[in-house]
Amino acid sequence: MPLVLDPTAQDLLFREAHTANAFTDEPVTDEQVQAIYDLVKYGPTAFNQTPLRITLVRSPQARERLVGHMAEGNQAKTATAPLVAILSADNEFHEELPTLFPAFPQAKDAFFAERPVREGSAALNAALQAAYFIVGVRAAGLAAGPMTGFDAEGVRKEFLDDDHTPLMVVNIGKPGENASYPRSPRLEFEQVFTTV
Ligand SMILES: Cc1cc2nc3c(=O)[nH]c(=O)nc-3n(C[C@H](O)[C@H](O)[C@H](O)COP(=O)(O)O)c2cc1C
Repeated sequence: MPLVLDPTAQDLLFREAHTANAFTDEPVTDEQVQAIYDLVKYGPTAFNQTPLRITLVRSPQARERLVGHMAEGNQAKTATAPLVAILSADNEFHEELPTLFPAFPQAKDAFFAERPVREGSAALNAALQAAYFIVGVRAAGLAAGPMTGFDAEGVRKEFLDDDHTPLMVVNIGKPGENASYPRSPRLEFEQVFTTV
């Protein structure tokens, strides 16, 4: 087999894993979230800029405020998931660059002095980290329900500030009854790959 990862782990992370729309009541602990982060923080980003920031929505009041900004079809599951996280991109990530990329500390001023450049780079690299996070949630034996169906400006004003751009809201927990839709088709290798 060309893949060296244990087949059980392959199933847990990808083949058997589904986006979840319903969850059991089992809580998701801070210890689980920390373990997930301590694994997925090693996923690569450009210049090691790691622009993803995560807001855990724990209090009932905060949950209610968030649900008000979700698209109608996303409200019920966001209201009842054991844990909800707001994933955002930090557009001022360059402040940490001299520490995060000691090999070339000048990168902060040489490449990221302009805010529009930072916003583009933060959007791409935080999205990469969001994907690592979703896979990390699965590695913890949990399921993720990522959503972009929400009022981003409303969420930004309610929970973040001008320097942070909301990317997605992720419901997290053990999948409940009928948690997922049947698997939709994926593109075949030949449809995706071109060799030149
Ligand atoms: C970035 C992103 C945004 C999504 N937004 C929504 C959403 O707003 N509402 C929703 O019900 N599902 C949303 N989904 C779920 C996708 O439809 C789902 O992950 C995809 O169909 C694959 O399903 P599967 O994991 O069961 O194969 C989103 C998924 C991702 C990765």
